[in-house]
Amino acid sequence: MKALAYEKAHTLDAFDLDLVDVEEPRLREGDLLVEVRAVGINPGETLIRRTRSAAPGGRVVLGWEFAGIVVAVGPAVTGFRVGDRVLGTGDTTRDGCWAERVAVDHRVVAVLPDEVGFADAASVPIGVLTAWEALFRDQDELPAGIDRVLVVGGAGGVGSMATQLLKARTSAFVVGTASRPESRNWVAAQGADLVVDHSGDVAAQLRDTGVGSIDMVFSTSGTSGHLGWIIEVLRPFGHLATIDLSGPVDIGAFTGKSLSLHTEMVFSRITVGGDAESQAAVLARTAEDLAAGRLRPIVTTSLQGLTVETMRRAHTIAETGRTIGKTVITL
Ligand SMILES: NC(=O)c1ccc[n+]([C@@H]2O[C@H](COP(=O)([O-])OP(=O)(O)OC[C@H]3O[C@@H](n4cnc5c(N)ncnc54)[C@H](OP(=O)(O)O)[C@@H]3O)[C@@H](O)[C@H]2O)c1
Repeated sequence: MKALAYEKAHTLDAFDLDLVDVEEPRLREGDLLVEVRAVGINPGETLIRRTRSAAPGGRVVLGWEFAGIVVAVGPAVTGFRVGDRVLGTGDTTRDGCWAERVAVDHRVVAVLPDEVGFADAASVPIGVLTAWEALFRDQDELPAGIDRVLVVGGAGGVGSMATQLLKARTSAFVVGTASRPESRNWVAAQGADLVVDHSGDVAAQLRDTGVGSIDMVFSTSGTSGHLGWIIEVLRPFGHLATIDLSGPVDIGAFTGKSLSLHTEMVFSRITVGGDAESQAAVLARTAEDLAAGRLRPIVTTSLQGLTVETMRRAHTIAETGRTIGKTVITL
């Protein structure tokens, strides 16, 4: 089958993915073999392209967000049949879905109702799972006492789904951040009650609009640079949930207000252990919510065909750090 693959880690300028013939994926007992119809593109995949090389003689196939059709079912799988339309993620330690077919653990896949198109479906799995686990942790709702949530990077793939989830499933007042007119409009369209500019003084903007302190900040972008105001706007015993924190962090700054810090990595359950089935359950609810219109797809750039050129364009958009919604490639 055909797949987009590369051998050595490389920069965008030296973009080196090729459409090559690779062996058919080998199914593990709990796997589905899925014919890929659409893939969502994530900044994390561009990071892996820049930093991960294949073992000698091998190649890397990226891509862990897809929608497609089940063409084979492993012997230990229940709940899926050949012909099912599905959406899912994957496992970053295995070959991904930028290929005609992908072998994927059924615990990170859910059946997709006929009403939802493949491209629309491929725009949501990573955003919704990341947001769900960061906001709700092991529950299906916000922890008690969280009524005001601020989403940093509200126009991105994760921030968009976080805002939609909060408005669809909770009664929280949601503040989103965006720094440009087009991203501000997008955040408002996702349902945010208030939009503030993360390139300005966020604490002052919250004061000026009469919003008191924040119970939970969900920070998806530029978190290290925002920690000062995040700590300022959080109430005592408030929560910071984040997915992109890197570099040294002064934990002492959190203790004055007894703040909690939660980190989230959406692939942890499948790569290092945990309740991976819970991700299939969240995806199944998401598929129902998409079909019922309670959640909306977030495709903003739609590219046709799994080719070097469409993928180069998708990586170029992702590496701007300015994506609104999501780029999707349809096969
Ligand atoms: N840990 C996990 O499980 C996980 C899962 C998914 C993604 N991630 C990571 O989380 C980050 C966000 O992912 P994504 O897919 O949502 O990214 P994205 O779609 O590329 O996010 C783009 C948005 O980020 C905003 N942004 C850019 N710089 C910012 C800054 N300094 N402060 C606040 N907002 C900023 C932009 O808004 P403006 O243009 O309005 O400034 C833009 O709309 C990435 O680093 C990604 O790798 C982690």
